Amino acid sequence: MEILYLYMSLIFVVLSYLFTSHFGRKFSNLPPTIFPSLPVIGHLYLLKPPLHQTLAKLSIKHGPILNLQLGSRHLLLISSPSASQECFTKNDVIFTNRPHTLYGKIIGNNNTSLNWAPYGDNWRNLRRIASTALFSMHSRKEFHDILVDEEKLLIRKIQNASVSSVHSHVNVKAVLNELMLNIMMRIISGNRYFVGDIGAADEEGKQFSEILEETFLLGMIPYLGDFLPFLRNFVQNGYKNKLISLKNKRDIFFQGFIEQFRKSEGVVKNKKTMIQLLLSLQESDPNYYTDEMIRSFMLILLSAGSDTTTGTMEWCLSLLLNHPHVLQKSRNEIDRVIGKDRLVEESDLVDLPYLRCIINETLRLYPPGPLLVPRESSKDCVIGDYNVPRGTMLIVNQWSIQRDPKLWNDPESFNPERFEGLEGTRDGFKFMPFGFGRRSCPGEGLALHVIEATLGVLIQCFDWERLNGKMVDMTESLNFNLVKVEPLVAKCKPRAEMKNLLDQM
Ligand code: HEM
Ligand SMILES: *[C@@H]1O[C@H](CO)[C@@H](O)[C@H](O)[C@H]1NC(C)=O
Ligand SMILES: *[C@@H]1O[C@H](CO)[C@@H](O)[C@H](O)[C@H]1NC(C)=O
Ligand SMILES: *[C@@H]1O[C@H](CO)[C@@H](O)[C@H](O)[C@H]1NC(C)=O
Repeated sequence: MEILYLYMSLIFVVLSYLFTSHFGRKFSNLPPTIFPSLPVIGHLYLLKPPLHQTLAKLSIKHGPILNLQLGSRHLLLISSPSASQECFTKNDVIFTNRPHTLYGKIIGNNNTSLNWAPYGDNWRNLRRIASTALFSMHSRKEFHDILVDEEKLLIRKIQNASVSSVHSHVNVKAVLNELMLNIMMRIISGNRYFVGDIGAADEEGKQFSEILEETFLLGMIPYLGDFLPFLRNFVQNGYKNKLISLKNKRDIFFQGFIEQFRKSEGVVKNKKTMIQLLLSLQESDPNYYTDEMIRSFMLILLSAGSDTTTGTMEWCLSLLLNHPHVLQKSRNEIDRVIGKDRLVEESDLVDLPYLRCIINETLRLYPPGPLLVPRESSKDCVIGDYNVPRGTMLIVNQWSIQRDPKLWNDPESFNPERFEGLEGTRDGFKFMPFGFGRRSCPGEGLALHVIEATLGVLIQCFDWERLNGKMVDMTESLNFNLVKVEPLVAKCKPRAEMKNLLDQM
């Protein structure tokens, strides 16, 4: 009986392989695939965390353009600069949607979320509002003030922590997290968010961190019902209920902000915040500019903007601690250009090319979105002479491109000098941590600005050392995003030469 069963499954596997991969490909010229594609589940059995590493191994073995079958859906897996260029330039319009998923349907509710909204006039308008509120010339001056202010608070916090802790230990991840959340909250609402000491966020702060964490977790779990529609009736309810309860929690939380803001509007009238912009739009068109849209904006900016930026700074400082000569070289550059009588300022950043190389090299090795953010094709198209059907999910493995030994010398080593003299190019789609094209990251400028300015002052003002002389652990978590498993804690003292300046603050 068992033998018979085994025999029949084997025949089924072989037949379905011949059908789907071989003949199917011959007739429709799909990209190469991997043997075997199992009945029903296809290649789902191959996907193990960390996904970017698993997919990188598959691409090395089977090629840079692959068609995987994930249940009922096609996945186009790209891991070469030339193929990624084809997707993001001549086919960019076709790949400008996010994949249809239950998560996107509930969390991107009513098409108000910039990340999830389908490509079209509504998405274009959301994108324009984000640019007006975040990156326009006007908000840049305000942004500058916020940044300088928050940097000073950060310096003071680190100073206090390094003095009060017996061994001058500073929880780098925690202080950077608070810096970024406060910057984002000030852009959004005009108010700081975390007011207490490091790690002592109030009840609201805790609730907020929980919401972000849950958003993150649920978004990263691949939901089987998205790939195996016949399973939906069995597996959907638990997951769907979790999503709905998360959405309700978030709605209540962010609605609280909006109400608070409405009450205190008189006080902050002269500031141009994002909520204010949206509330004034709401007055003229309340059916389109709903409270739901304002909540979606707050959420997407905080969830897409904070962990990515904080994580990059944390990886960067970790790399510097493990490579003290790079840290020293960067500090020499800062001392030479700025001196010790004033802090690094925004206008200095163009004169600190080595610092920029360090940040690029960090984003090369540890891109916060190693697989970018998936897209989905809205029409049939051709990539590398292969036919790609409509509705195919696109994943570009930027992590593997950025560590490909065919493209980079000694790719695993941290060597900022490799970026010297490469200014102003994307280097042939080899280096692309923010994605590319119409749907690329709108926060790139803001993120780089915060990262450069913050690392600049941290290198300028403090002496940094590893704990007990041990190398900083660089293990990557199993998540979809590239997170450092061990939060960075380092030994830190104010620099003696900077004492005068720091005492004045
Ligand atoms: C180091 C920091 C950051 C990295 C590496 C990063 C990376 C990315 C990537 C790879 C995408 C997908 C792009 C694509 O599909 O081609 C993306 C999208 C996005 N990012 Fe960022 N990001 C960062 C910081 C930020 C910040 C600070 C903000 C907001 C203030 C932000 C807001 C967004 C939004 C709203 C989207 C979705 C855009 C859309 O779908 O139209 N990001 N980001
Ligand atoms: C979508 O928006 C409309 C109008 O603003 C609202 O009436 C409706 O309840 C919303 N739908 C959901 C599922 O939230
Ligand atoms: C979102 O937009 C798409 C395409 O424009 C539409 O089919 C869908 O019904 C919209 N969803 C909601 C909840 O409004
Ligand atoms: C860093 O990379 C960006 C591409 O994202 C490039 O435009 C810039 O010139 C690079 N800077 C340096 C110093 O390599």
